[in-house]
Formats: sequence, C-alpha cells, structure tokens
Amino acid sequence: MKGKIEEEEEIYLKKLAQKVEESQFESTFFSQVDGKNHTHFGSVIKEIKDADENTHIVKIRPPLFLLSGILSNISRKLSGMENLKILDNKRWQAREVERIKDLHPDLFSQETEYENAFLMEKIEGEVPYEILIARDVDNDTKIDIIKKLVKALKKIHDKDLYHGEPTTQNCILGDDGDIYWIDFEIEYHEDLTDLEREARDLEQLTMSLLWAFEEEGEIGMSDKDLVELIFETYGDRDVISTFSNNPKLPLFGPHRVFQLSFVSLKRFYQVQVNLMDYLREYLD
Ligand SMILES: Nc1ncnc2c1ncn2[C@@H]1O[C@H](COP(=O)(O)OP(=O)(O)OP(=O)(O)O)[C@@H](O)[C@H]1O
Ligand SMILES: [Mg+2]
Repeated sequence: MKGKIEEEEEIYLKKLAQKVEESQFESTFFSQVDGKNHTHFGSVIKEIKDADENTHIVKIRPPLFLLSGILSNISRKLSGMENLKILDNKRWQAREVERIKDLHPDLFSQETEYENAFLMEKIEGEVPYEILIARDVDNDTKIDIIKKLVKALKKIHDKDLYHGEPTTQNCILGDDGDIYWIDFEIEYHEDLTDLEREARDLEQLTMSLLWAFEEEGEIGMSDKDLVELIFETYGDRDVISTFSNNPKLPLFGPHRVFQLSFVSLKRFYQVQVNLMDYLREYLD
C-alpha cells in the first residue's frame, strides 16, 4: 500500500505535469513575447508554479531546436571536434537531470513524459554574466565572482564530472553564495581523455570570462593578467598545458561563431588571437 507521503507526491507531480503540458503548447514553434511573434530555435525556459505555489523551471526544446542543433554540430565537426550537442531529446533530458542530480543532489529535478522537457527547481540568484557586465558593480566583486566560478569548475572536475559548456551564462550564483551549474547539453565522445575533457571545460570558461568584458582592461587588469588569475585559481598545470596545441581542442574555428551573439567581432578576435600567446607565456 502506498504511504500518504508517496500519494501526496504523486498528486503533486501530476499537477506539475499538467503545467508542463500547458507550457508545451505555448512554446512549440512560435510564441508571443511583449506582443511580438517570437520564433524558437533555442530552448525555452518557463517558470511554472505547482499547487503549493513553489516555482519550478521547465526547460523545453521546441521542434525548431533540431535545426540550430544540427547547424551547431556541423560547425563543430568542421572545426574537427568530437564533442557535440545531444540531438536526441530523450537522451538530452536524461542527461540534464542526471547531471543536476550528480552535482546538486539537493535540487529538485525530474524528467517528464515529454521527451523534450524536464523540470528543475528554480535557483534563486543571479546569472554571473549579468553581474560581470553590470556597470554599477565594482571590480573587486567581479574578480571574486571570476575566482568563484573557476573554483566551482575545479570542484566538479575533482569529482570526475565535466560540464561540456561551462560559460558565465550556464550557471547561477545562488543567493546562498554557491555556484549552481546548469545546461549540460554537450556529449563528450570517447576519444577525449579525462584530462582533455577538463581542458576543454577550462578553455570554454576562460574564453567566456574574457568575452564578458567588451574592452581589455575594463575590469582593471590586462587580459594576460586575467588569464593568469584564472589559471592560478584553477591550479592544475597538466590541464592547462593540455589545451595548448591540442588538435582535438581547437581554439579557433567555425564552432566559435555561435558565440558571436554575446560579443563584438573586434573583441571576439582579440581574445582568440591573444589567448594562445597568454597560454604559452604562462607555461614558459
Ligand atoms: N533552474 C533555474 N533556476 C533559475 N534560472 C534558470 C534555471 N534554469 C535556467 N535558468 C535561466 O535560464 C537561462 C537559460 O538556461 P539554460 O542555459 O539552461 O538554457 P539555454 O542556454 O537557453 O539553452 P541552450 O543553450 O540549450 O539553448 C539561464 O542563463 C538562467 O538565466
Ligand atoms: Mg545556456
């Protein structure tokens, strides 16, 4: 016989499922945002409330996502990369939930009967990118956040877990001061060693941190010093040397073009061109 708690949980999940269903219809191909038609090529994040007024996040992959996913994977292949976006929705859903449970066991996360949607607890906090670009936040606070992000990445690597695309937007700085990683949609292929997976993550986070600043020196230090700070905070030289001159981890290439929506072309090239030099100088 089912216990009362199990029964309550079942009713609770049923009500939540109903909300997911409603969100599905609202975000198939198009929806209205601020009175304008909006086409969904990327995933759709919606906040829903359960019967007890708790807020949850439902992340949905609309049908058009497949198109952007295929384009993204073609660009990755053209760059010679083997770590690709997971296109199969069922696999994606399972992986997102599995990763959240691995990294943040106290957070609620749950697969849904819809292959293209999963549920997770809403994390109260701020997206680090928003803090890094804010004009009214002082540099010391920004530097503390940078260190926190790099340490949070090292922490998951120490548990033999990898993110895939750890950027300043794929995590949340919780109101409790912890970093919560989200958005784990890259599949790492067998041909990458553990060290290469860690290197790939660190390279991704480094680029994303540099690209958060539109001008070199905006944060009160040169890019070279910022890179050094990131590497020193990460602290594992083997990982750092793995991402220099590794054909499996290309710094340049078509796969990067997708990041251009967040950074100007000038800054995009400045970081790409100089990062190799900073790496070499750091390792010398
Ligand atoms: N559990 C959560 N709690 C609070 N905010 C969230 C949560 N999940 C997502 N968000 C917000 O939604 C944004 C986008 O989420 P996410 O990175 O998972 O999807 P995405 O980048 O749109 O997806 P994709 O890159 O797969 O197209 C985050 O930067 C964050 O602001
Ligand atoms: Mg994201």
